[in-house]
Amino acid sequence: MKILIQNISELLTMDLTRPDNTGLGLISNAAVLIENTGIIWCGKEDELPVNRACYEVIDAAGKVVMPGLVDAHTHLVFAGSRENEFAARLEGATYEEILAAGGGIHYTVSSTRGADVEELIASGLNRLDFCLDHGVTTVEIKSGYGLEKETEIKMLRTAKKLDEIHSVDVVPTFLGAHIIPKEFRDSRERYINIITTEMMSEIKDHGLAEFCDVFIENGAYTVDEAEKIISAGIENGMQPRLHVEQLNHLEGVKLAVRYNAASVDHLETITGEDIEILAGSDVTAILLPGATFFLRMSNYAPARQLIDSGVKTALATDLNPGSCMTAMPFLIMTLGCLQMGMTVPEVLRAFTIYPAESLNRTDRGIIAEGKLADIIILDVDNYKMIPYMFGRNHVASVIKSGKVVRK
Ligand code: NIG
Ligand code: FE
Repeated sequence: MKILIQNISELLTMDLTRPDNTGLGLISNAAVLIENTGIIWCGKEDELPVNRACYEVIDAAGKVVMPGLVDAHTHLVFAGSRENEFAARLEGATYEEILAAGGGIHYTVSSTRGADVEELIASGLNRLDFCLDHGVTTVEIKSGYGLEKETEIKMLRTAKKLDEIHSVDVVPTFLGAHIIPKEFRDSRERYINIITTEMMSEIKDHGLAEFCDVFIENGAYTVDEAEKIISAGIENGMQPRLHVEQLNHLEGVKLAVRYNAASVDHLETITGEDIEILAGSDVTAILLPGATFFLRMSNYAPARQLIDSGVKTALATDLNPGSCMTAMPFLIMTLGCLQMGMTVPEVLRAFTIYPAESLNRTDRGIIAEGKLADIIILDVDNYKMIPYMFGRNHVASVIKSGKVVRK
């Protein structure tokens, strides 16, 4: 398949080696050439190096074109929903109290244990359709609502199946260490031992996860426990990406940097000292302002300080039934701007090139020769409108791996 996208008002390549003053690798009056699954050329339309007649032409109609979005932190596979918890929080209960009382994540664990694979695949497909409709072409999905071998594996097999049958690419992460399951409340070491032996060896044998996550938090896992889990994860071929410093500051960032984690996620309670340590590392900060908003917290992660210190900073939705029941990337971008002081180019990079790098997918999140043709056409006249017109889905068309999948 040979495709020419022409009549692009602004092409946001995210190719940061291109000299321009937007920080988006912006080319105005641009065109892109695609052959099979990849991009073979992009540039000014009047410098097009081929004969148009040989290509199927897509007219961008003077709109903005950018890489398909990458959502690098989701809990997209789950059963049931938690609107009762949402309503209880409105009447004063906190997320931590609900969890400590056996609700919250425990509730989703029991629904997910009770669901069969077909049910999880059906709801997963619906959610992936929503992601693709909103321009997301790669999504990370965590397990973590099983907390027993059978269901953790069932979740990861669901993620693998979704990757096979849906056009969105799925990157699987093992989060067996989400919270301590109720059955092991008084014997947490035994559960951790099951994670690091039985669960991880099955995952390794069947290639079910690329990354290993731990929720480091009061009421979840300590830093010492997380160290045991991620060491075992690394031995089993899974790089860590960690939930850290969300509700309480517990020194998770230092651990993540010592173990060369792919990312540290949340960071609402990160300190200045940690920011310096992160800045000296390759670890990507993934900020989840949708969760801060949905939990009605006022301490958004310090995106400005992180970026100004030189930390690679991404955004993600954190889609999950408890702390952030949305999969809308454009809404998260607006929260990034308004609640965390990020600029428009920063939120656009934060949903493309940086999350792609943190998932070890350097073939995407960027429009350049030789990269994967994951491209979205947005119904806006210029890039500043993307976070400005908030609550709106701007997607006009989506091309995934060189194929038009939404138009
Ligand atoms: O990223 N913090 C832990 N995990 C999720 C919430 C999961 C849930 O509440 O179901 C998060 O916010
Ligand atoms: Fe999360």
